Amino acid sequence: MTKLTATVQFVFVLMACCTHVVICSPSANYTDMLSLLDFKKGISLDPQQALRSWNVSTRFCSWEGAMCSVKNPGHVTSLNLTNQGLVGQISPSLGNLTFLKILVLSANSFSGEIPMSLGRLHRLQILSLTNNTLQGQIPALANCSNLTGLYLGWNQLTGQIPVNFPSRLQELELQANNLTGTIPASLANTTKLQRFSCAKNNIEGSIPNELANLLGLQALMVGLNKLSGQFPQAILNLSNLVSLSISFCNFSGVIPSSVGTSLPNLQLFEIGDNIFHGHIPSSLTNASELNDIDMSRNKFTGVVPSSIGRLSQLSWLNLEFNELQASNKQDWKFMDSLANCTELRIFSVQSNLLAGQVPNSVGNLSIQLQDLYMGINQLSGDFPSGIANLRNLIALSLLGNNFTSGLPEWLGTLNRLQRLLLFSNFFTGPIPSSFSNLSQLVDLYLDWNQLNGYMPPNLGKLQMLEVLSISSNNLHGSIPKEIFAIPTIAKISLSFNNLHGPLHADIGNAKQLIYLQISSNNLSRELPSSLGNCESLEHIDLSQNSFSGSIPASFGNISSIKMLNLSHNNLTGSIPASLGNLQILEDLDLSFNNLRGEVPTKGIFKNATAVLIDSNQGLCGGPLDLHLLACPIMHSDSSKHKLSVLLKVVIPLVIVLLLVVVISVFLFQRRKQKTKAISLPSFGREFPKISYGDLARATHGFATSYLIGQGRYGSVYQGKLFQDEKLVAIKVFKLGTRGAKKSFIAECNALRNVRHRNLVHILTACSSIDANGNDFKALIYEFMPRGDLHNLLYSIQDSEGPSYFIPLAQRLSILVDVSEALAYLHHNHQGTIIHSHVGDFGLARFKFDTATSFVDSSSTSSIALRGTIGYIAPECAADGQLSTATDVYSFGVILLEIFIRRSPTDDMFKDGMSIAKLAEINLPNNVLQIIDPQLLQELDHSEVDNGTQILQSVLSIGLCCTKTSPNERINMQEVAAKLHEIQEAYLRGN
Ligand SMILES: *[C@@H]1O[C@H](CO)[C@@H](O)[C@H](O)[C@H]1NC(C)=O
Ligand SMILES: *[C@@H]1O[C@H](CO)[C@@H](O)[C@H](O)[C@H]1NC(C)=O
Repeated sequence: MTKLTATVQFVFVLMACCTHVVICSPSANYTDMLSLLDFKKGISLDPQQALRSWNVSTRFCSWEGAMCSVKNPGHVTSLNLTNQGLVGQISPSLGNLTFLKILVLSANSFSGEIPMSLGRLHRLQILSLTNNTLQGQIPALANCSNLTGLYLGWNQLTGQIPVNFPSRLQELELQANNLTGTIPASLANTTKLQRFSCAKNNIEGSIPNELANLLGLQALMVGLNKLSGQFPQAILNLSNLVSLSISFCNFSGVIPSSVGTSLPNLQLFEIGDNIFHGHIPSSLTNASELNDIDMSRNKFTGVVPSSIGRLSQLSWLNLEFNELQASNKQDWKFMDSLANCTELRIFSVQSNLLAGQVPNSVGNLSIQLQDLYMGINQLSGDFPSGIANLRNLIALSLLGNNFTSGLPEWLGTLNRLQRLLLFSNFFTGPIPSSFSNLSQLVDLYLDWNQLNGYMPPNLGKLQMLEVLSISSNNLHGSIPKEIFAIPTIAKISLSFNNLHGPLHADIGNAKQLIYLQISSNNLSRELPSSLGNCESLEHIDLSQNSFSGSIPASFGNISSIKMLNLSHNNLTGSIPASLGNLQILEDLDLSFNNLRGEVPTKGIFKNATAVLIDSNQGLCGGPLDLHLLACPIMHSDSSKHKLSVLLKVVIPLVIVLLLVVVISVFLFQRRKQKTKAISLPSFGREFPKISYGDLARATHGFATSYLIGQGRYGSVYQGKLFQDEKLVAIKVFKLGTRGAKKSFIAECNALRNVRHRNLVHILTACSSIDANGNDFKALIYEFMPRGDLHNLLYSIQDSEGPSYFIPLAQRLSILVDVSEALAYLHHNHQGTIIHSHVGDFGLARFKFDTATSFVDSSSTSSIALRGTIGYIAPECAADGQLSTATDVYSFGVILLEIFIRRSPTDDMFKDGMSIAKLAEINLPNNVLQIIDPQLLQELDHSEVDNGTQILQSVLSIGLCCTKTSPNERINMQEVAAKLHEIQEAYLRGN
């Protein structure tokens, strides 16, 4: 039956073609058209309707992506369908396009094998299938004798690199596949080769000596493989080489001393993460155009060549994790010499054997220097005073040395610092009060020193601080409450000091706090019940203090808590039953207190190995495994528990994740210079170094199975990056796309400068060179747990019983949070103008709809496009105008959706009807007819007397946001203010 239909269709198509061809162009040969139609049949999904024009009523030479020969008008010479979101298989019929010179299907989702028939296309010059999910082997293309460019990177190709390539080949890119075997010696026959990359595969063996013939080779990128052996001698013959990357392999031995004289044109020299030893050859400084040297993570010994300053273009010098020495003035000469490298931006000698005082010439380093890593050496003496000159430092690491002085006041003048890593030294004296001027500071690590004095309350001025870590010092006085008001503070670690006094109730304001470690001090008095407001807390350690009173029942509200240690205090009273509600708590220590009464039986208490309660006098009952005596019989009221289960519906802030993506194009132009990785060398779990290689590993070479979304400017992967295996989301920018670089810089700056508790945290950025020598930029975010607002919103009935829904109060509070964050972005942030980006908003929006969170991989499907359409402002849909008003519009739609519980892409919204229109027609009098029936039920059963008014007011804000004309819409600040008022009115009425 289907077969018959297909045949009939085919005949019809054929007839249509014939008619067409006969009428328009009697001489043409329609083999090419049929081949194209066959190719189209292989495409199962065309979300952007790229092939809309591909039908027989138009000449196939004018079909999107196709071009015909002028001389032979019936023949296709070029088929270019890059980045069209196409899903499907590549039809072998393309092999019939005998005149084809250019075939570009890159950046789509083609799967299956590369058809062997392409090997017949002897006119083919360029074949690019980069960035798909193609599998199988690389077909034999030796007969494509005109092929100059073959690009197959970023697929899932397996098998070996073919032995024969066409002799005219100039560029061969095979990176980021699953290729095995060795680099064939016969590659040397492609004597015209200029670029070769097979980086990020599983290639073994050595680099064949024969490659020494490739005299035109400019880029050799073979890192991230299992290549081994000595430094390849063949390379020394390649005098035209500009980029060489053999990082992340198993090469060993020494670097030939002539490397710099043999390769005078080198700009990029990456040999990091191998097992090389011996000295850094001083000839390297003859390659005078070098701007990027990465020799990190090898076993290099000796001194850094004192001629290094001859490399006047040097911008990135990474020598960390080696065994380089410096113990006298002569050894340290490299530092004096580096003063000539006026472009130097990133410099790391972290984790080597540098000893003694840091020469003052450190202060003559480039004023452009952003990152200076000298940690984990044997440095001693005073804090290096030269550093005071390096006004543009963003990151400074001196950790793990033997410095003994006090911390200089002038540190407060380095006001671009974002990371200051001074832990594990012998620094003495107080924390300089000038630190309060470090307004960009994100990470402050001062642990394991001998600092004393009070904690300056003005640390509270560090409005971007995320990590405040000063454990294991001699601080005394109390913990200043000001630090709890820092809007970004995520981690406070002050254990092992002499702090005393109470834990101030203001800690309840630190809603974004994740980690609180203040054990082993002399803190006393009652635990503030406001701590229960810190809903982001995952780790609380208050042990080894003198806290008294009972454990606040509000601790049962900290639903993200995983670890809670209250041991070794003077706590009394009973264990609140609410602790049994903490679903992901896995470690609870209440031992060594004076607790009494019945031990709860639910949640973590069922797991005897996860709970420590010994050395309390009067505990009884609890699960049998705890081996406690039974409690004296009393009446208990268990009916209360039921409600709390319902209330415990936690709405992850995924909704505001979208804001990250909303922050987009800043009108912001940055200097052209390349910034290299703003990365931290790794030294323990708290300071992950993020290099290109780390990201590649985390995502198994950016494998498609790790891809969770694609937007116009980038792809988002998930991966496990750090030692603690925390999931992160990695947004890799497509730098080829116009605007992507700007978007990266904008997003980077936005996220670096914008801190708000409702915005997702950016962990770090990576700006580097990929395995192929191209610019590479990525941002690394926290991976937000599964977004299920959508699920909650639309799951009607829970089979267990009462419907599972989001109460009015919670819906209001979500909207208040989001509106605050947006208002902050639009108005409070140092006059920066923020525009939303439609495409990304659409992607972000889909976080509601999927289990993949962050962004959705189905965003290339037509469903996703529909999703986007419902949320974007009309002026945007029409001509792509972007403004803060478009954000307001999208916010308005989300608001309406949350209260009406009807997707803006619902079938009823067509022919001019929209969710905004629906609200407009029914407001104010008929509001109850469009509102989510679940909310009506809630209002019926509650004591709220102003329910209808509340709903009218909320929806009318939605209307003000979704006015057709951008000028008529209200701004986010007003929205936030109004929503606040409504929320308060609601709470009063309740
Ligand atoms: C069309 O061209 C192809 C190759 O160019 C050839 O094999 C085929 O016979 C031609 N068909 C017609 C109908 O001329
Ligand atoms: C293919 O099309 C893209 C976008 O239109 C263009 O940037 C690219 O240069 C084309 N490639 C070739 C080889 O023509």
